[in-house]
Amino acid sequence: MNVLLIGGGGREHAMAWKIAQSSLLDELYVTPGNPGSVRHGRNVDLDLDDQKKLRAFLLEKRIRIVVVGPEGPLVDGLHDRIAADKELAGVVTVIGPRQEGARLEGSKHFAKEFMFRHNIPTAAHRSFGASELQAAIEHIEHTPPPFVIKADGLASGKGVVITEDRKEAAKVLKDMLVGGRFGEAGQRVVIEQFLKGVELSAFLITDGESFKMLPAAKDYKRIGAGDTGPNTGGMGAVSPAPFADRDFMQKVHDRVAAPTIRGLRKEGIAYSGFLFMGLMNVNGEPYVIEYNVRLGDPESQAILPRLRSDLLDLFEGIASGTLSERHVDVDDRTAVTVVLASEGYPGDHETGHPITGLELVRDAYVFQSGTAIKGEQLVTAGGRVLSVTAFGKDLEQAILSAQRSAALIVFEGKYVRTDIGLDLIKKPSTKGTPQPVK
Ligand code: AMP
Ligand code: GLY
Repeated sequence: MNVLLIGGGGREHAMAWKIAQSSLLDELYVTPGNPGSVRHGRNVDLDLDDQKKLRAFLLEKRIRIVVVGPEGPLVDGLHDRIAADKELAGVVTVIGPRQEGARLEGSKHFAKEFMFRHNIPTAAHRSFGASELQAAIEHIEHTPPPFVIKADGLASGKGVVITEDRKEAAKVLKDMLVGGRFGEAGQRVVIEQFLKGVELSAFLITDGESFKMLPAAKDYKRIGAGDTGPNTGGMGAVSPAPFADRDFMQKVHDRVAAPTIRGLRKEGIAYSGFLFMGLMNVNGEPYVIEYNVRLGDPESQAILPRLRSDLLDLFEGIASGTLSERHVDVDDRTAVTVVLASEGYPGDHETGHPITGLELVRDAYVFQSGTAIKGEQLVTAGGRVLSVTAFGKDLEQAILSAQRSAALIVFEGKYVRTDIGLDLIKKPSTKGTPQPVK
């Protein structure tokens, strides 16, 4: 089977690595890919908006599966365009929803209303359009802080503002609704109740009829140790997260995953591919913070190495509508992923610095994100440069191993969060320990 994978980050490197292990694979193409994905497939330059060229490529290379890594092409209707093409329909299966289903990520307003219709636990909310600034400000005046304000549309993870300050909240509303902050994405805002708890990224794969849960992971979103500083795409991940025990994951399955897939079916929204459920664990109860219609980055780098099942076999299950007959087999060891970023990220950062030491890493997987080849040399080319994933017999060992491997890689301005996973280590109980005699 020939496969085209779309994307060029760490998530896609991890997907390429995983797909390349399948006995069902003949050729893997990645567009645009990165210097890491080259080791598992062929990187190709394709303009996804050029339907004629895309069709010619898919036919010439006899592609059967198109896997979409990021949400952009799905929200833009790539799946719909392929499905509407007479020569491609029925031949090519797209792993990822059509535009309608992609609204679960593309519109927070749509996602919230969907959850409300299907009784899926989420924070209470109100949404306001561009002409409703005054009503939005009044709403803030009558609710207690903290205020959670979200741009309705896609804003590269930057469209959420959380503040205790009523004045700042009002300014944010004004900036988004009338000031053009986040452009069209901010023309509608969702204001929601603040949820206090621990976050978890849960994932499923579906053919639209049945679904299978994939391993879940905790992501570390802030740039600074101890969850401080600005939000990033993610600085590390731990899978599984100890607080997401069997009981909690059963609730996620029963109260979030199952009603979501059932709800999509009921509404006639054909949905296939991955679903990312961004959750808050509030006193042991899962609440949905957001849906994404893709896998996470860096969560993929932690969950895919734990997946023992053949990913291509699961994709084939989607193609033939027989996903219910497949098995998802998971390694129960803990995987820890740490991201190696460029100093300054998520703000301005330098690029073009040589990267060395990759060959010294023995006990971990290295996935590339913001890298490029200059001459013969691997150099930095983005904010998040690499990620390193290690297993351990327990969480402590996995953390140590990941950090040790990350330390072997060198580039100017390398920044790593050294506390990934430390918050999840059980503190030794002091109860019952002998107290010093005074
Ligand atoms: P989102 O883009 O919707 O995932 O939001 C970005 C981040 O904002 C999340 O990862 C959470 O850390 C935080 N967040 C979003 N919604 C809420 C909420 N209702 N209560 C508390 N924190 C939230
Ligand atoms: N790491 C969060 C995301 O992929 O959206």
